[in-house]
Amino acid sequence: MTSGGGIANTIALKLARDRALGPGARRGGVPARAAGRLRVYASDQAHFSIARSLDVLGLGERALVRLPSDRSMKLIPEALAAAIARDRRRGLRPAAVVATAGTTNTGNIDPLVTIGAIARAEDLHYHVDAAYGGALLFSDRFGERLRGLDRADSVTIDPHKWLFQPFSLGGLFVRDGASLRRAFHTEPDYLRKDLEREPERLDFYHYSMEGSHRFRGLKLWFTLKTLGRSGLARLVDRTMDVALHLEKRVRAEERFEIFDAPVELASVCFRYLPEWARRGDARRRARLNALQTAIQQKIERSGAAWFPNIVLRGDVYFRFGVFNYLTTEADADAVLRLILRVARRLRV
Ligand SMILES: Cc1ncc(COP(=O)(O)O)c(C=O)c1O
Repeated sequence: MTSGGGIANTIALKLARDRALGPGARRGGVPARAAGRLRVYASDQAHFSIARSLDVLGLGERALVRLPSDRSMKLIPEALAAAIARDRRRGLRPAAVVATAGTTNTGNIDPLVTIGAIARAEDLHYHVDAAYGGALLFSDRFGERLRGLDRADSVTIDPHKWLFQPFSLGGLFVRDGASLRRAFHTEPDYLRKDLEREPERLDFYHYSMEGSHRFRGLKLWFTLKTLGRSGLARLVDRTMDVALHLEKRVRAEERFEIFDAPVELASVCFRYLPEWARRGDARRRARLNALQTAIQQKIERSGAAWFPNIVLRGDVYFRFGVFNYLTTEADADAVLRLILRVARRLRV
């Protein structure tokens, strides 16, 4: 268990780095022959913590090859395979592939099966950042969308996102526990080692860069004991139902335009279209963007609802994430009505 998904991603990429550089890297760092040459592949929708992790690990943010996503905001496997081949030809050293299962902006899921096959064929560490979408594993109705997750070497899941836990609680699953221990194991004199040899003991300082570590998993354990897997599935499905309701309403209202990517998790991205925009004046992009920002800020200031504005391919959209199982269809309808009311009164 970690403080969040970002740190879990850093730990995963440490495993990838050590696998690529071999056991000497812990003491010697990145050897001169590999400096500036390691490469990690992800789509341009990957969370910023991937690039930051590469900086922290001494590989540099430039080690991240950001592949353009397709219209559904997903990584394109053919482009991944081509980028790896091109880099090998150039004498670079591919080290890892990061797929995102639930992008931060639109909640889209990369094609996990195909990406996993490429990673395996290329002998690369396969990390799936399922910080957001991992919760879908609990759902019988929607869990199939994560097919291929089981091929990963490491998976980030953030229970403080869509498993309804209070901040902060992230998590990393790794296929090979011994590799995690090899990456972080340390024996400082002030910590007694005799009892640690007992096999069932889990001392977290051997498994991440953290030392003192609070009992983060306790709240999740209580949730599991209270609700069980089926209870969590019910809550995840409930938020999905509200999101799908919202999607339907947005599609049915001509003053809204939904972002053109499938709704795969509980995120719905759309924007308000005033009459002049519906007439299709493309030169008014800046004005349309300013209008979305003004609407969002007015509503945020009012305290009636909160949703962020995000930029997708240069256009500003509202991003609705239904992450609270107490949110109802009626709440969603009320926010849509509020947007229309606020938009009518604004002069942008
Ligand atoms: C896909 C993804 N990965 C990682 C993170 C980082 O999570 P945290 O804020 O818990 O570090 C986020 C946060 O939104 C995310 O959406």
